[in-house]
Amino acid sequence: MTVAKPLPHDAAARHVDGSARYVDDIPVPAGTLHLCFGCARISRGRVTAVDLGPVRAAEGVIAVLTADDLPFDNDVAPVAHDEPLLSDGTVHYAGQPLFLVVAESHLQARRAARRAEISYEEETPILTVEQALAADSRFEEGPRVYGRGDVEAALATAPLVTEGEIEIGGQEHFYLEGQAALALPQEGGDMIVHASSQHPTEIQHKVADALGLPMHAVRVEVRRMGGGFGGKESQGNALAVACAVAARATGRPCKMRYDRDDDFTITGKRHPFVIRYRAGHDAEGRLLAVDFRQFAVCGWSQDLSLAVADRAMLHADNAYWIPTVRIESHRLKTNHQSHTAFRGFGGPQGMVGIERVLDHVAHRVGRDPAEVRRLNYYAEAEEGALSAPLGGSAASPPEDISAKKKDLQERRVTPYGQVVEDFILGGMTERLLETSGYHVRRARVAEWNARNEVIKRGLAFTPVKFGISFTLTHLNQAGALVHVYQDGSVALNHGGTEMGQGLFQKVAQVAAQVFGLPMAAVRITATDTAKVPNTSATAASSGSDLNGMAVRLACEEIAGRMAAFLAERHQAKPTEVRFRESRVEVGAESYSFAEAAKACWMGRVSLSATGYYRTPDISWDRIRGEGRPFFYFAYGAVVSEVAVDTLTGEYRILRADILHDAGSSLNPAIDRGQVEGGYVQGAGWLTTEELVWDDAGRLRTHAPSTYKIPAASDAPEVFEVNFWQAENRAETIHRSKAVGEPPLMLGISVLMALSDAVAACGPGYPALDAPATPERVLAAIRRVRGAA
Ligand code: MTE
Ligand code: MOS
Repeated sequence: MTVAKPLPHDAAARHVDGSARYVDDIPVPAGTLHLCFGCARISRGRVTAVDLGPVRAAEGVIAVLTADDLPFDNDVAPVAHDEPLLSDGTVHYAGQPLFLVVAESHLQARRAARRAEISYEEETPILTVEQALAADSRFEEGPRVYGRGDVEAALATAPLVTEGEIEIGGQEHFYLEGQAALALPQEGGDMIVHASSQHPTEIQHKVADALGLPMHAVRVEVRRMGGGFGGKESQGNALAVACAVAARATGRPCKMRYDRDDDFTITGKRHPFVIRYRAGHDAEGRLLAVDFRQFAVCGWSQDLSLAVADRAMLHADNAYWIPTVRIESHRLKTNHQSHTAFRGFGGPQGMVGIERVLDHVAHRVGRDPAEVRRLNYYAEAEEGALSAPLGGSAASPPEDISAKKKDLQERRVTPYGQVVEDFILGGMTERLLETSGYHVRRARVAEWNARNEVIKRGLAFTPVKFGISFTLTHLNQAGALVHVYQDGSVALNHGGTEMGQGLFQKVAQVAAQVFGLPMAAVRITATDTAKVPNTSATAASSGSDLNGMAVRLACEEIAGRMAAFLAERHQAKPTEVRFRESRVEVGAESYSFAEAAKACWMGRVSLSATGYYRTPDISWDRIRGEGRPFFYFAYGAVVSEVAVDTLTGEYRILRADILHDAGSSLNPAIDRGQVEGGYVQGAGWLTTEELVWDDAGRLRTHAPSTYKIPAASDAPEVFEVNFWQAENRAETIHRSKAVGEPPLMLGISVLMALSDAVAACGPGYPALDAPATPERVLAAIRRVRGAA
């Protein structure tokens, strides 16, 4: 089996030796020009006067373009047509592109851009949730509400009500390779664009609109990105369109890349959220009703914010069945960068909300938070769950079985009406608590904390249940194009993009498997809009689910034609033809794959095929909040342990034990990388990665000097990652599960472990906001002590 092998990333060696080619490494033709945006310095107002004379006069400058110079559409928005490439004079955020410098070199363009003299009429920016609510500044009329039952009534009768609020910061993507694009003008006005993009089709679309061309005149190629993390779904549009427009204006190739500060300042981030909650529960911590109000800070344009905020609502339950629930979501328009997709796509924020509720409730009722979490789980998928006592209550007599069955049915329904058919977290949790020694360590942590004044330890278990599929149902489709050449070599193409997540390797494994070929026989090629059209972004973790299936179908089509031809030649049945170990066997006859390919070619059999796949069984009404948005769920569970220095608020992650569900993994080595990286990235988001905008709306943390992502040394000292060995119940490619985003949410356990450590300092509830920087941890320690 080529599939399921723990092969290294196809470009691992190239990543290390430097020969992996990114947009900035592509040799450019002589005469290539370089671009830089001139950006607004205020966050809200109007440009009253612009003097671009000094910019035009600067060394090496060939042209300076403003909104008036754009030939066609001045828009780079992915959805709402509300995002001009260059400002029309209105300023919506500090960093907004106002004009475009085209120069002989990258440095010359950057130097010239700073020489503009611009006067503004400033207005008071909208920067906080309160300000946005007061101004009713939003992207949809009023809040969106999902849920079931009468929450007010349920809260009124609940034995206990726990309420609070958590602020959750945004996150900079910090892909190693910054945004970049290169446009090469062709004859007849056509354009070829190389872009660092998760969404080549959208780049093609936006470039075509900007040039007044049909999509067939624009070809976009993406070999790989040096990381995307959602930040290259829509944020690359501006660079590609700028390059194309400048290339059209000058007739020369144009290239643009943001340096790190520009990348921070111009592009959107993970949405910061404020979540308010009121939870009704009993003395054991059993949730009876939860009322969430989610406030998403979306920035100045809509971008993907509605879908992000929807997904936050759809993950407000995480792994828990909440009998009566109301989730109210406000999508606030503010004078920040336009916040965008980031690994988890709103799911992480929604999940932090409910994990915070359970942490708070467990503290309130004085029970182990892991037990309180388990108590509230959805009903397990296994038949065996029927005989297990529910929610920790005593075993019931057998005559209650049918009532119990009904109860179990109810305990599977999400707030949006999808039935969780595949819940496996009960078993996973049991296993992980055992292998991680959770209960023993809980006692040890308590002992340690009783003996030590300065260093406090914290332990936390958190689960992840993440819905797989684009919630915009029509995006759940993919195409592939596979060629078998007459020498038996295979060229593979599909609509997915490679950003380091290992998609190309996994999909190549699928192709090699169908033909019974070694990996070396399958050539991975760059994503290209001329080969597979109308693709979706590589996002929502669905890359291998969608493209793996499309590729398998294309390969099976070709293999089927080969089998039919060879079977006829040998008077056998096509089903008797076998592809294995680089050979094609027909009854007693056997060809090398190359001989078979050549024979088919000579026999005039087409050796090229497309494949097309769409996810079955999904439908979703995002306005009513009802349907089955997800084909299935991916699960994970983690126990994290931290140590906190109570004098400084500094901390370290001592140990993490992860049990993750990747179904029947297509490649356990790559999936392990996704789990480890996801966990660390999630922990970074909730601990050290702090975005600070000043009162004028300028982002002050715009470089690694002021914005701290985790380094290798910040990974836990003990890092145990294991996979739950069970195939996907849904019919996915080789019964694997999507693994790109879910592990990020394992990082939530670090925030909860910090909460646990702080709670050991005094009687109060820590109520940690995120990121829980050392400053915030120190403040929380004071608070819990002050509660004495
Ligand atoms: N892993 C690496 N190394 N680099 C990335 O940019 N992006 C993540 C995740 N893992 C990312 C990554 C995000 S946001 C998504 S949606 C998925 O990969 C996309 O790829 P997939 O659908 O093939 O999993
Ligand atoms: Mo991932 S946030 O869906 O690109």
